[in-house]
Amino acid sequence: MSHVSEMISNDIDQYLQMHEHKSLLRFITCGSVDDGKSTLIGRLLFESKMLFEDQLAAIEVDSRKYGTQGEAMDFALLVDGLAAEREQGITIDVAYRFFSTDKRKFIVADTPGHEQYTRNMVTGASTADAAVMLVDARKGLLTQTRRHSYLVSLLGIRHVVVAINKMDLVDYSEEVFQNIVNDYRQLAEHLGLSSVTYIPMSAFKGDNITEPSANMPWYQGQPLMHFLEHAVVDADAGVDTPFRLAVQWVNRPNLDFRGFTGSIASGRIRPGDRVRVQPSGQESTVARIVTMDGDLPEAVAGQSITLTLTDEIDISRGDVISKALAPAEIADQFECTLTWMHEAPLLPGRPYLLKIGSRTVTATITEIKYQVNVNTLEHLPTKTLELNAIGVCNLSIDRPIAFDPYRENHDTGGFILIDRLSNNTVGAGLLHFALRRSQNIHMQAVDINKAARSRLNGQKSCVLWFTGLSGAGKSTIANELEKQLFALGHHTYLLDGDNVRHGLNRDLGFTDVDRVENIRRIAEVSRLMVDAGLIVISAFISPFRAERDMARSLVGDGEFIEIHVDTPLAIAEERDVKGLYRKARDGQLKNFTGIDSPYEQPESPELRIDTTETNVDRAVQQIMACLRERGILPL
Ligand code: ADX
Repeated sequence: MSHVSEMISNDIDQYLQMHEHKSLLRFITCGSVDDGKSTLIGRLLFESKMLFEDQLAAIEVDSRKYGTQGEAMDFALLVDGLAAEREQGITIDVAYRFFSTDKRKFIVADTPGHEQYTRNMVTGASTADAAVMLVDARKGLLTQTRRHSYLVSLLGIRHVVVAINKMDLVDYSEEVFQNIVNDYRQLAEHLGLSSVTYIPMSAFKGDNITEPSANMPWYQGQPLMHFLEHAVVDADAGVDTPFRLAVQWVNRPNLDFRGFTGSIASGRIRPGDRVRVQPSGQESTVARIVTMDGDLPEAVAGQSITLTLTDEIDISRGDVISKALAPAEIADQFECTLTWMHEAPLLPGRPYLLKIGSRTVTATITEIKYQVNVNTLEHLPTKTLELNAIGVCNLSIDRPIAFDPYRENHDTGGFILIDRLSNNTVGAGLLHFALRRSQNIHMQAVDINKAARSRLNGQKSCVLWFTGLSGAGKSTIANELEKQLFALGHHTYLLDGDNVRHGLNRDLGFTDVDRVENIRRIAEVSRLMVDAGLIVISAFISPFRAERDMARSLVGDGEFIEIHVDTPLAIAEERDVKGLYRKARDGQLKNFTGIDSPYEQPESPELRIDTTETNVDRAVQQIMACLRERGILPL
C-alpha cells in the first residue's frame, strides 16, 4: 500500500486537510480516442503521481482493477485500462477522474467525442473552467474539433488549450504546429473564443506535459501541467461579479431568528450591505452572515451561508438575493439556446418544468427559431429538437424570475428542463436575454367577470373534455349531450376536432408537434369560453396526458371534467366509420392514433364511458348525472 492510500485509510481528516487549501480546477478533455485522449489522461494521472508522490484515489482504483500494484504502476497499462473502460461502454456517461499535484486539485471530465454524445459533453462542460482540445498533429482540425469548439464556446468555458498532440509522429515540426495554430485561430475568432493557448506535445512520449520538451526548443511557452496549475478558475473570478445568492432554505428555528440559506453563486457580501430580494423587489440590509463556524465579516462566491436581514420581509425558497445597486433582471419570456437530452423530442407548446438555481417553474418553448448544425454551424429551420440537437428558441414561463444572461453568470443564467410526468431531465439551456414584449403587456382588469356571466346564463361554466381514439364515439355523444343541455336552456358551445381543423387549426397536421399545438389552442379557446360563462364541450382525440393536464390547469378547480370515451382499438377499427383505420393499416395514412401514433389513457378521468357496454343515450345520462353531482347542473 502506498503512503497516501495508507493515510486515506488511517487518517482521512489529515488527507482531506492536505487537499482543502488547494484550489480546484475542473476541466474537460475533447477530441476522440484517436487524438490521444486516453493517453493524455493516463499521462496526467501518471505524471502527477510520479512527480509528487501525491497519490490519487483514481490510480489506486485503476491499478487494482487492472491487476497491478499502485507503486509499480505502469504507464502503458494505465492507458490500456482507460481505453478498455471506454470500449466497455462506460462512454455513455461522463467519466470524472480526480488527481492532484502539490499546487492544485483537478477534476477531469472525460466525455466521448461522437455526435451522439453531444448531451454528455454539454453535461461535462457545463461545470468546467477549462477545456483541453486535442488535435492530432498529422490530421489537423477535423469536424469533431469544430463541433467540440462550438460546444465549448456555447457553454462559455473560460480557457481553451489546443493540445496539438502526436508531435513525435511529425518529427516535432514547428511548421506543422504553426499551420494548425493558424487554422484554429480562424475558428476561435468565428466562435468568439478569446482565451486560447496552443501547446505542441506528445502525450505518449511525455513531451511538454510537465516539463518543457527538449525535442521542441522552438516552443517558448509552458507545458500543459503548468497551464492547468495556473489557469484562473471560475470560483476565483466569480468574486468580482455582482452578488447573487439563490435561497435554498428559509430557516426559522425560533421567533427571534429568520435566516436565508444558500450558496453564493457570484460576488461578495458583508453585513451592512443593502440587498434586494428578487423577483419581489423588496429591499433590506444584511444584519449577519451566519455559518456553522460562527459569523463572518465577509463571504464570497462558492461559500454556503445563512443571511439574516434587518427587516422582516417575505422571502421564499427560489428567490434570488442581489445587491440593491446591481440587481439581476426580471422576466418571464426569454430567448435561449437549448440542448435536447432525451429520446422523446422537444414539443413546442408542451409544458415542462424549468429549474433555475433553486426555483422550479412551468415553461413552454413557444418557438424554435432555428436548429444549429453542430458540425457546420449552419442554421436550419425545424419544428422540433431531437436527442442531441441544439436550437435557439423562445421560452415562456408561468411567472417572472430573477436571472442574468448566461454569458454573464452561469448559475443564474443556466437552466434545465424536466418532463412533468416522467421527471426525466430532457433539456439544458442558456438564457440569452429577456423578450421585452411581455413586460409591456399587462392583464387588463375587467368588471364583468366569469362569475357574473355564468350567473346571467343561469349556470356554472365549465369544460367537458372528451378524449378517446378516433371512432370511439366522442363526437356522437358530445352532439347528443349538447342537444339535451340546449333543450334545458343552457348556453353551450361544441368544439369538435374535425370542424376546428377546418378553420382555426387548418394549418396543423397529425405529427406529435402539431397535435400538441392543436390541443394548446383548443385549451386556450376553451378557457376563454369558460370565462364567457359557457358550458364548453370539446371533443378531440387529445392523445397526450401532458396536454390534457395543461388544458385542466388553464381553468379553475372543478371546472374541468375529463370524460374518457373508452372504446378498445379493435372495436373502433372494426367500426371504421370514416375508413381511416383501413387507410392507416394500408400505409396510406401516417401517424394514425392507435396504429403508429400513441394514445395515452387518462389515469383518473372524472368519468369513463365504456362504449362496449353503454349506448349513446345511456352515456348522455351518465354525463348529466355526473354534472349534477358536481354542482354544474341543478339537482
Ligand atoms: S388530436 O390528436 O390532435 O386531438 P383531433 O381530434 O384534432 O386529433 O383530430 C382527429 C380526427 O382527425 C380524427 O377523428 C380523424 O377523423 C382525423 N384524422 C386524420 N388523420 C388522422 C391521424 N393521422 N390520426 C388521428 N386522426 C386523424
